[in-house]
Amino acid sequence: MDAKPDYFKVNKATWNDKVKVHAASDMYHLEDFKKGKSSLMPYELEALGDVSGKRLLHLQCHFGQDTLSWSRLGAKCVGVDLSDAGIALAKDLNAELQLDAEFVCCNVLETSAHVKETFDIVFTSYGVIGWLPDLKPWGKMIAEKLNTGGVFFIAEFHPIVWMFDYLEAKPIMKYGYMQEEVIYEEYEGTYANQDSTIVSKEYGWNHGLSEVINALTEAGLHIEYLNEYDASPYDVLPNLEETTSGMYVSRDKLYPLIFTLKATKL
Ligand SMILES: C[S@@+](CC[C@H](N)C(=O)[O-])C[C@H]1O[C@@H](n2cnc3c(N)ncnc32)[C@H](O)[C@@H]1O
Repeated sequence: MDAKPDYFKVNKATWNDKVKVHAASDMYHLEDFKKGKSSLMPYELEALGDVSGKRLLHLQCHFGQDTLSWSRLGAKCVGVDLSDAGIALAKDLNAELQLDAEFVCCNVLETSAHVKETFDIVFTSYGVIGWLPDLKPWGKMIAEKLNTGGVFFIAEFHPIVWMFDYLEAKPIMKYGYMQEEVIYEEYEGTYANQDSTIVSKEYGWNHGLSEVINALTEAGLHIEYLNEYDASPYDVLPNLEETTSGMYVSRDKLYPLIFTLKATKL
């Protein structure tokens, strides 16, 4: 029998390769960001409100733009990511912009071993849970990292979005809404630059909404709300249309593209 691949090692190598390409891409607007443009989207800005003076832990922070955007709004931030290239660039940006965020390179599931303090807010967004095989340890870690009264907020692509294989010209529904088996994809390019010659090799997992909710409630968190939306801030599927407010929607709106969830530690 073939040995099981080291999923996190393969994903880490791919994310390390992506960082440079993403930092140079139109999608991430790095030069505008450096001049003060926020990378945060309306869903999280509205949900978290005034973060000034709050301690905020950002899970799967990529190269730190969202973390540093929260820092600019006055939060005291720690960003965590698996990719050492991502964390190195985040640290450079923090220094260049003279902000006060801290960045830690680790598997998000091992955050509690690497980040000792607790937080008023734990935040994560857009393309995160699909890299984790099981959400139970993720929920447990989130509960461990929150102060009593602290808030967890996630804005994420809806599980239905991940049922499609969009390496096909016309996306076809191919993967189970909550299938347990790992999904392996290998392709040239990356979402922020499809013309790039890097080869993305990725292991991912689909998680239904019940899995997200149960992981958090079983860890002791109280769900305040779960919302589903037609409008995505990112052009996540082929053939989406851009709205006048810069969001992306499908023509027929047959299913949501985004969910948001807020939970508190009582
Ligand atoms: C799509 S990005 C997150 C999106 C983020 N909002 C952004 O665009 O800035 C996914 C991030 O998850 C990170 N990641 C993947 N698997 C991880 C893991 N097991 N632990 C920590 N970070 C992980 C990747 O390195 C990458 O930075």
